[in-house]
Amino acid sequence: MARFLRHVFVCQNERAPEDPRGCCSAKHSAAVLEKMKELVHARGLKGKIRVNKAGCLDQCALGVSIVVYPEAVWYGRVTVGDVEEIVEKHLVGGTPVERLRTDGGK
Ligand code: FES
Repeated sequence: MARFLRHVFVCQNERAPEDPRGCCSAKHSAAVLEKMKELVHARGLKGKIRVNKAGCLDQCALGVSIVVYPEAVWYGRVTVGDVEEIVEKHLVGGTPVERLRTDGGK
């Protein structure tokens, strides 16, 4: 039996400003992670949905990068303003947010 219903990984990788690869940290990944944790907690989902920091997910140009398991749905260019939609539609409702997907969608 799975310990969590869903597991969310939010890239927090940070690189030097001059690094051409860029990084999710420079695109405010810490604020995205914080908002995700806050909303999951507010929805009473602590213990059912786990939100974790991740290192580089190898999708740097598409950051802020997030991946949600067990579906293996990848999201990119996620901003703080997108987090509520991901929580409500996907984490609570079970339907991925298609407009933010970078994995090719359904
Ligand atoms: S720095 Fe976030 S995916 Fe690489």
